[in-house]
Amino acid sequence: MRKPIIVGNWKMNKTIAEAVAFIDAVDGVCHDGATYGVGAPFLALAESVKHANHLIVAAENCHFEDSGAFTGEVSVPMLEEIGVKWCIIGHSERREMFGDTDETVNKKAKRLIQAGITPIVCIGESEAQYDAGESEAVIRSQLSGSLADLCADCVKDIVIAYEPIWAIGTGKSASVEIAQQCCHIVRDQIEKMYGKEAAEAVRVQYGGSVKPENIVEYMAQPDIDGALIGGASLKVDSFTDIINKTK
Ligand code: 13P
Repeated sequence: MRKPIIVGNWKMNKTIAEAVAFIDAVDGVCHDGATYGVGAPFLALAESVKHANHLIVAAENCHFEDSGAFTGEVSVPMLEEIGVKWCIIGHSERREMFGDTDETVNKKAKRLIQAGITPIVCIGESEAQYDAGESEAVIRSQLSGSLADLCADCVKDIVIAYEPIWAIGTGKSASVEIAQQCCHIVRDQIEKMYGKEAAEAVRVQYGGSVKPENIVEYMAQPDIDGALIGGASLKVDSFTDIINKTK
């Protein structure tokens, strides 16, 4: 039985004070039926970790090297030092705007796993790829690159977020059928790479315009174990609504 996991991705939003105020307001609403969390900007991570008792706090990126001449980057040991236990990697915004590739995502995943930090690995096709009927091929290829050469036991613990780029921040969420179909492909690809046990254990999220009004129908799908939520995770009211609707 996979425990649902619902994580907000704040992206480049919230100062330290805003992050702490959100966590103080939402932390007590969480319940044991699911894992709830937020992806916070680097600067807000340390205080967020201190204030969160029930919410998990994820970094939104990391570098795969431990130190060196990588101006502006943050390494895994730096995250470890402030008690971060989760990290989103390979978000489509990082892939599109900051040059992340399956290869660098794979290196990040390996380094995080080594540190005992759980990666939330994002994948998903563009609108052009979707229109060309290439969703399945893109999903399989991104997973085979991003998750190459991990141990099957480690894969059981990671989280995969399937986020079709055309549904991110557009209000145009994928239909429940498409989301289920694609999350099933994710699980099938994990089975091909790491076997049935890993495929059955890995938690798969859908992301793309998830909100209080549609969370329940996504969560009812057999292969959707949770959601990665952008816009609707920024306000206390809407995120609390999502928590209450997934009890
Ligand atoms: P929206 O929920 O704003 O569409 O963003 C999804 C996302 O990118 C989460 O990582």
